[in-house]
Amino acid sequence: METLWALCLAWATGLAATNPPNIVLIFADDLGYGDLGSYGHPSSTTPNLDQLAAGGLRFTDFYVPVSLCTPSRAALLTGRLPVRMGMYPGVLGPKSKGGLPLEEVTLAEVLAARGYLTGIAGKWHLGVGPRGAFLPPHQGFHRFLGIPYSHNQGPCQNLTCFPPATPCYGTCDQDLVPIPLLANLSIEAQPPWLPGLEARYVAFARDLMADAQRQGRPFFLYYASHHTHYPQFSGQSFVGCSGRGPFGDSLMELDAAVGSLMMAVRDLGLLEETLVIFTADNGPETMRMSRGGCSGLLRCGKGTTFEGGIREPAVAFWPGHITPGVTHELASSLDLLPTLAALSGALLPNVTLDGVDLSPVLLGSGKSPRESLFFYPTFPDEIHGVFAVRSGKYKAHFFTQGSTLSDTTPDPACHADNPLTAHEPPLLYDLSEDPGENYNLLEGKAEVTPEVLGAMKHLQLLKAQFDAAMTFGPSQVAQGDDPALQICCKPSCTPYPACCHCPDFQP
Ligand SMILES: *[C@@H]1O[C@H](CO)[C@@H](O)[C@H](O)[C@H]1NC(C)=O
Ligand SMILES: *[C@@H]1O[C@H](CO)[C@@H](O)[C@H](O)[C@H]1NC(C)=O
Ligand SMILES: *[C@@H]1O[C@H](CO)[C@@H](O)[C@H](O)[C@H]1NC(C)=O
Repeated sequence: METLWALCLAWATGLAATNPPNIVLIFADDLGYGDLGSYGHPSSTTPNLDQLAAGGLRFTDFYVPVSLCTPSRAALLTGRLPVRMGMYPGVLGPKSKGGLPLEEVTLAEVLAARGYLTGIAGKWHLGVGPRGAFLPPHQGFHRFLGIPYSHNQGPCQNLTCFPPATPCYGTCDQDLVPIPLLANLSIEAQPPWLPGLEARYVAFARDLMADAQRQGRPFFLYYASHHTHYPQFSGQSFVGCSGRGPFGDSLMELDAAVGSLMMAVRDLGLLEETLVIFTADNGPETMRMSRGGCSGLLRCGKGTTFEGGIREPAVAFWPGHITPGVTHELASSLDLLPTLAALSGALLPNVTLDGVDLSPVLLGSGKSPRESLFFYPTFPDEIHGVFAVRSGKYKAHFFTQGSTLSDTTPDPACHADNPLTAHEPPLLYDLSEDPGENYNLLEGKAEVTPEVLGAMKHLQLLKAQFDAAMTFGPSQVAQGDDPALQICCKPSCTPYPACCHCPDFQP
């Protein structure tokens, strides 16, 4: 399938780029390493994302630090490990008292200080709090259109379907308020009809880009899509169209949104002045079986520290600046804040950052300064510390634990009934020869060479040093719940929470 926006690259080339670049950061939800056509999926329909990959730099070894929505999003936006800022354990919900602490400096704040017009469309999931204290307008975003948490965190009957053509799928979490759609701090609909959302988000994005251009300033668009999270659905033009079932349809709608965003950039003549980054928050939720996404050749999925939970597709596209190709350099979502600050000339916050500046990798001027990666479980504590460490091609698991989210895969190590297990010596894998983590180098028929022993000792030392140096911030999630904090379009109505019902449209 041909993508329209790419045809114009030829004549876009040669225009002088302004500095700093516009930034479009597209973040998919629960998308696996094996889900895109450009990452080898045989039946996904992702022409726009594949075009980005073909015309940009495609990462093979790009990671998120925690395999779960809330901590992964906190890391993306701050360049800091979630435990430092209390974004653990698990995820925030509609009743949560806590949220991303306001003293944390987000990518939006960093770029706004550099003169960017900043906007987020889609899923926030970093807290609501009293009177929306933790929402994006208080965290550096000039504009927000989206759902403050996951779209399954509220009753979702009747929200995902086109009756009678497609039945509704999933009922989501009951006994919570219906999911609100927020425009900045006001309620646009509660609940919105989900298949209509993508068009609204794309319109929001177009306005943001055009307004920034009119104002003569760069824009930062954080496009945090609800696709391909459970319950998977898509707009009418994609239902049954992808060739890969409901998950594929959801992914196809995300891909089409990427195409629309690129068309908007092109229409404004900004292709060469806009850096587009695509990645996802964590691996596939395989408990949904074929509806849950695919980690390809990697082991397990969401909720685990195996590769399938934490290694993600990632592409950086910036014609005229980033040479198309594939990189095997180590990279993390933690690195985006320092990298984008460097590329835009913005000031770094005066805090301990866990990310490094990858601009030499993007611009082809040098190697990644990143040598190691540290992975926490979804329920971390200071006694166990990091569960797994990667350095160079080697990865050691000091602890493993399965997850409900990774149930139903053929490998029982992924499942919820695989308990927390300490490994002494660690499980050790050479990810260059064995990305699927099938063959422990310290066990069975493997020959334990001096190099392998040296790698094990190095990773043990890295873990010990890292854990000793880490201080956990007070947990935001452990602050607990207050049902009255739930967003409600009809204050003091009864029966609460079902009465908070101001839908925009029901098919
Ligand atoms: C949010 O507020 C900004 C600034 O006042 C405004 O331009 C924008 O239209 C508002 N709505 C949305 C959805 O961003
Ligand atoms: C879903 O639609 C049915 C039929 O219109 C209605 O009876 C039911 O109350 C709806 N459920 C919710 C949660 O809105
Ligand atoms: C950075 O923070 C440290 C510790 O809070 C402080 O001592 C130092 O003065 C700060 N530096 C700047 C440039 O603000």
